[in-house]
Amino acid sequence: MTEEKSTVRTYDPPEDFAARANVRDRSIYEEAAKDFEGFWAGRARKLHWFREWDEVLRWDPPEAQWFVGGKINASYNCLDYQIEQGRGDKRAIVWEGDEPGENRTLTYSELKAEVEKFANVLKSLGVRKGDAVSIYLPMIPELPIAMLACARIGAPHSVVFGAFSAQSLRDRINDCEAKVLVTADSGPRGGKRTPLKANADEALQDAPSIEKVVVVRRTGDAVNMVEGRDLWWHELMEKAEPECPAEEMDSEDILYILYSSGSTGKPKGIVHTTGGYLTHVNTTTEWVFDLKEDDVYWCTADIGWVTGHSYIVYGPLSNGATALMFEGTPAYPANDRWWDIIERHGVTILYTAPTAIRSFMKQGTGPIEKHDLSSLRLLGSVGEPINPRAWEWYHEHVGGGRCPVVDTWWQTETGGIMISPLPGITRTKPGSATFPLPGIFAGIYDEEGNEIEGPGVGNLVIKRPWPGMLRTLYKDPERFRETYWQKYGDVYFSGDGARRDEDGYFWVTGRVDDVINVSGHRISTAEVESALVAHPAVAEAAVIGRYDEDTGQAIVAYVILEGDRKGSDELAQELRQQVRRVIGAHARPQEIVFTPDLPKTRSGKIMRRILRSLSEGRDDLGDTTTLADPSVVDSLKEQVSASR
Ligand code: WTA
Repeated sequence: MTEEKSTVRTYDPPEDFAARANVRDRSIYEEAAKDFEGFWAGRARKLHWFREWDEVLRWDPPEAQWFVGGKINASYNCLDYQIEQGRGDKRAIVWEGDEPGENRTLTYSELKAEVEKFANVLKSLGVRKGDAVSIYLPMIPELPIAMLACARIGAPHSVVFGAFSAQSLRDRINDCEAKVLVTADSGPRGGKRTPLKANADEALQDAPSIEKVVVVRRTGDAVNMVEGRDLWWHELMEKAEPECPAEEMDSEDILYILYSSGSTGKPKGIVHTTGGYLTHVNTTTEWVFDLKEDDVYWCTADIGWVTGHSYIVYGPLSNGATALMFEGTPAYPANDRWWDIIERHGVTILYTAPTAIRSFMKQGTGPIEKHDLSSLRLLGSVGEPINPRAWEWYHEHVGGGRCPVVDTWWQTETGGIMISPLPGITRTKPGSATFPLPGIFAGIYDEEGNEIEGPGVGNLVIKRPWPGMLRTLYKDPERFRETYWQKYGDVYFSGDGARRDEDGYFWVTGRVDDVINVSGHRISTAEVESALVAHPAVAEAAVIGRYDEDTGQAIVAYVILEGDRKGSDELAQELRQQVRRVIGAHARPQEIVFTPDLPKTRSGKIMRRILRSLSEGRDDLGDTTTLADPSVVDSLKEQVSASR
């Protein structure tokens, strides 16, 4: 790890930061490697257990069970246990609404009171331990309240991101057969409103498992309330009993199901259980964010994604942190909104995505200079590879050159952070997530399953089970096995490619499968393709992710039309709308290329690699000898340049 060996600039932890960091001793890596089960057991003991486990890990690949026989409740750990440690009057959630100055604060005691009442509401609606509850809410306090209420009574929650369409919501409800849906009249974001209840009504036309719908009045927009099915949150809460003791859950009981895109059209219901997951997110929050008692911690993700689950709700609250939660967008009402929030709330830790950083870079430093950001002491990044220039800009202009930057690699599947610097001890290289955390055993494998030791490029794998790992795909163990374990046996295949440099640093390069990452949102090519071919004008579609300076990747759809239909701007617009309707606004293709043909292998497989090269304007198309009809490429080249 010497500077001479490497050509990039490196950054050492600032001395004063290192001196009081939560993790100061490098021997933690060895300690974890020597006895990794004992190591994680030690971490688990920091949580509250009703009953300690009999066995730390039962590993029957690909099935892992952590803290077998242990009894625990996630809501108890995030609320009661914090209050027992004297944090009753400490702020748990600081909420900032879409309009500036629209604030709400909940202390740990206040949050617990709301959670207990809502847990009783759920019970009164017939929700029992093991029954799934779908949650389709904007970024308002009712969202973590509903999640923690579910956790309290042992009902797995399934949160659906508010930008998802009615159809996506319906698919997710039906897959987990949720009994109750929690939603809101509408969700304000950036001065616009998403009609959540109207979307929910559409979804529920064909979602027979839902018995009751609880509606939060967020904006006061008029909504249709179905007699006997739909109930107002505030009316139910007024009548709810105040006390609801936390259920003693088995360590391996399901805490939540969260849907994520895979390489086929059907979203994957990723299952997280209780004891191991909580141990993982609790530990990583303390280590990676160096969380201290007086921090104001802000993760800008939406709770509809895993980052919000793990690092707005379960990680911070199980550490007794003050977590800021923001409903709006960086640009509303003006482009200095985030910096205004940091200044007003004295935010000390900021965790965000490279795509946001790049959009700020474009605006220059003007909006930042209007504000005092001296409260910040640590910066984090997640969701996609961060390019060194964005890293350095973040470090210099947001962090004033004094804050360590932690680039954290992980996935919905991993539950929590896996590869990341420890801010008090790791020398960072911009663009590298650095090293696997203590107790996490990442590696790089080639296509044949040989481990690449030392410097090299290949597929990123995890070689031993870890506490936060997904346990299965909901009701689809076969797909679980095929997706993650078929390739390398008892080693987890992440779907990402990575390089290790001569100093042992990991550089995650992005997906090696058919998943696209747009602004840190995972979208499956197959899902967009099937949304497109559902349109009567479309005969066939191939979707790829093209490199994009701002969003990391942008969606490009190559479309073959039915019969003699001709492509037009109007039709392209209609197709974008179609994708929006079927999946959600975040999945809309940026570009649609109408083409008479697609490059295919002789066995009929679309060669997306060629489409990607074409879209990125690269002349070198790689090996084209397997093409069934090489002339397709020339005509595509013309189409692509004509569509520009
Ligand atoms: C990508 C989000 C490089 C990666 C937590 C992964 C990253 C996918 C990083 C998971 C990072 C996430 N550097 N790539 N620091 N963080 N990714 O499930 O491709 O929404 O597989 O989880 O995002 O996205 P997901």
